[in-house]
Amino acid sequence: MIVNSNDILIKAKKNKIAIPHFNINNLEWTKYILEECNNNNSPVILGVSEGAIKYMGGTKTVANLVKSLDEELKIKVPVVIHLDHGSSVEMCKQAIDDGFTSVMIDASLYSLEENIKMTKKVVEYAEKYSVSVEAELGHIGDTNYTDVDEAIRFVKETNIDSLAPAIGTVHGVYKSKPNLDIELCSKLSKDISIPLVLHGGSGLDNLALKKVIKAGICKVNINTELQIVWSNAVKKFLLENGTAYDPRKIISSGEKAIKKVIRNKISVLSSN
Ligand code: G3H
Ligand code: ZN
Repeated sequence: MIVNSNDILIKAKKNKIAIPHFNINNLEWTKYILEECNNNNSPVILGVSEGAIKYMGGTKTVANLVKSLDEELKIKVPVVIHLDHGSSVEMCKQAIDDGFTSVMIDASLYSLEENIKMTKKVVEYAEKYSVSVEAELGHIGDTNYTDVDEAIRFVKETNIDSLAPAIGTVHGVYKSKPNLDIELCSKLSKDISIPLVLHGGSGLDNLALKKVIKAGICKVNINTELQIVWSNAVKKFLLENGTAYDPRKIISSGEKAIKKVIRNKISVLSSN
């Protein structure tokens, strides 16, 4: 069932749990994620970066791929087709026009005024199509943590559906122990009524995940961790099967590893 993010995130906030957001890169990953989330009865947000969209052939191809797999695999859980880190108003509009049900406008590197202006434009457009909008304030990955007063103003003026705050996570592999500002996260969650979403979820241990969820996070984004376990499994397969050449066997040698991570994340995120 293809949906936007709103209902599932609001429900998650109420139940103090988090919905997994897994990034997709190709048909196989999309299939593995859908199958495993369905088997574990978990709603899922399929995040697609601009790079992945380009790699997979464009927004229309991605949206149609997810819709077709959802139908043919008879997926029963809610599935969101989400543009991850949309870098411009135009990119968000294109994803909406081509069938995405949720978009993130990431204008976090612009000034607050410009971020508000760009985000508002996306919200106004998305509303007409019942597409949910996520935006980022502060900048994830550096020392520009989200300011609570700015966040209150940002949410009020833009009317976004969910906010990605900067609370100390980073994208990619952590080079040192993550330094999360749980207090800031709790404060934001108390002062802002919409769901908070966490970027840079790979590499956080279960205890850290539990802590951020308790502090109000309703969605956790995971990309790098899937990439690492998949590529390790494929490398091992190729080392052990040097003569392999069937792409289906090579690519799917990472399936079990991806599905294991998905299962573990669902079990941590879906209970409190
Ligand atoms: O937007 C995508 C996620 O924030 C990915 O984070 O690099 O920790 O998997 P990650
Ligand atoms: Zn991110």
